[in-house]
Amino acid sequence: MCGIVGYIGKKTHGYDVLVDGLKRLEYRGYDSAGICVMTDKKTKTFRSVGTVARLEEKVGTPIDGVRVGIAHTRWATHGKPRVKNAHPHSSGKIHLVHNGIIENYQQLKKELIAAGYTFTSETDSEVVAHLIARENKKHDFAEAMYRALGRVVGAYALVILHEDYPDTLIAARNSSPLIVGIGKDAYIVASDASAIVSHTDRVVYLDDGEVMMVHDGAYTITNLRGRKKTKKTHTIDVDTQKAERSGYAHFMLKEMHEQPHAIEDAMRGRIILADGMARLGGLNSVEKRLRTIKRIVIVSCGTSYHAGLVGEYMLEEYAGIPTEVEWASEFRYRKPLIDAHTAVIAISQSGETADTRAAVREVKQKGGLALGIVNAVGSTIARETDAGVYNHAGPEIGVASTKAFTSQLAILTLLTVYLGRQRNMSMTMGKRILSELRKTPQAMTHILAQHDAIKKIAKKYANATSMFYLGRKYNFPIALEGALKMKEISYIHTEGYASGEMKHGPIALIDKDFPSVILAPKDSVYDKTLSAIEEIKARSGKVIALTTHGTKQVEKIADDVIYIPKTLELLTPLLAVVPLQLLAYYTGVIKGYDVDKPRNLAKSVTVE
Ligand code: AGP
Repeated sequence: MCGIVGYIGKKTHGYDVLVDGLKRLEYRGYDSAGICVMTDKKTKTFRSVGTVARLEEKVGTPIDGVRVGIAHTRWATHGKPRVKNAHPHSSGKIHLVHNGIIENYQQLKKELIAAGYTFTSETDSEVVAHLIARENKKHDFAEAMYRALGRVVGAYALVILHEDYPDTLIAARNSSPLIVGIGKDAYIVASDASAIVSHTDRVVYLDDGEVMMVHDGAYTITNLRGRKKTKKTHTIDVDTQKAERSGYAHFMLKEMHEQPHAIEDAMRGRIILADGMARLGGLNSVEKRLRTIKRIVIVSCGTSYHAGLVGEYMLEEYAGIPTEVEWASEFRYRKPLIDAHTAVIAISQSGETADTRAAVREVKQKGGLALGIVNAVGSTIARETDAGVYNHAGPEIGVASTKAFTSQLAILTLLTVYLGRQRNMSMTMGKRILSELRKTPQAMTHILAQHDAIKKIAKKYANATSMFYLGRKYNFPIALEGALKMKEISYIHTEGYASGEMKHGPIALIDKDFPSVILAPKDSVYDKTLSAIEEIKARSGKVIALTTHGTKQVEKIADDVIYIPKTLELLTPLLAVVPLQLLAYYTGVIKGYDVDKPRNLAKSVTVE
């Protein structure tokens, strides 16, 4: 969702720190951007619609002499992307930036209007500025902030400054992520570590209901009633180089090409081939409990949900554990039956997705075992689950998830072997799966080398208005994922479907202008999938088929064919998704869209 950043320090380069921070957070939302800085006890505020680059244009010459300031990049929830709805929002001498949703803002707004406050935006966030200003009439800045937040219901990460307190910066968190970077003579508060790492590696993670106040160069952490708390300082190890585009045209292209490496990093130190075992250190603390698990429920959203669906097939077929996969946004409002023999696995790249976080809380509430497969180190889900496995895929900046997805599939394969070997999986089978998994990075490199051929296919179908993506068994989730990638990047209306379901209705849509991408690797359901291709061809539908090297039949019936190297059935999803990522990428580029920041999307969905 939105990206927020705050700076307070002895050095006067605050403007540069804030703008650099905004650029690194821009994947969280890019509907508008804004900044408020204080120089010589006066504030200057700039806001603009669109990207941070547009804001810089509006500011013109970078502002010098900035020791304190706040900034924001927006993903609109309340009020269209307009300058009046851009943050920071102000009330008198109070200025703030907000990430989250104030659920009771309508009621508070009515009360404040009745008290004579004038609203200039349609946002929920502006309410907080006026609330603090009203309390500030009777109380000092800090007390006014506590009293105001005592009235607020909802999710927030806030950074607040007051013109009369140039040596003070306040940040508060309830549900939306917030990290404090502790530098030499400076503090940087931000939605995630990417805006902090180039300045310091010492951070404090704020938890829900916590307030951080910097005053006169020192910081304190309290709860929402002002009671002091001591918090651990963490040292984060993030390679800023990895957050650069490194010569690629887009982060998405770079991250697709990083997949072979990301799989190697996911496997590093986790394969004991001689015993056909997987070693997952992050599960050591629950190893015994995992032996007693009788059921697994995977909760996640979007692309991570599709990874969960592949995991379901793997865990049932190779670990023999009944597995269900739930959309976290539905799971949290259902009455899920969770007992002590249920392990719930939350899969999340960002580790901050609000619905997945809430699902984890629900599970812990019910005494279930909450595990995480998370990429973002130190993120909330990683800290709130009982145990888990990090992807180690490095920062994923492109909004459309690619390397995190294939890395999630690799981790789910390791987890399947880990749990399978605790149960009835033989050493031979363990060895077979792990040695084939080890070959996937090279196979991926081979597929990535076919980018020109895939680009040609993208050009051929770029004007399609609708497309089907079809797959069966392990590749049904990949059909869903391929369809999601094409939606996100090219805005073509696509539907992922189980190929066996086509004749129960969707095939009615097929005609010569409605192409279908069909996943037909040489696996246990290959013949069935061939019939699905035939059925579509019989209605003049165009078919882009994806199959295994060496299979000749498909090219006789499909219009275009993409080949992937041979591997075990449960590992075909890891390979089959790569051409679909490339197809979406090139279609988006051909159509001239911003493939790293697709319209209406954000990388980390931190509100419901
Ligand atoms: C995928 O390309 C999207 N960015 C989105 O569907 C994403 O997978 C979803 O929001 C879940 O995010 P998470 O893995 O960070 O929890």
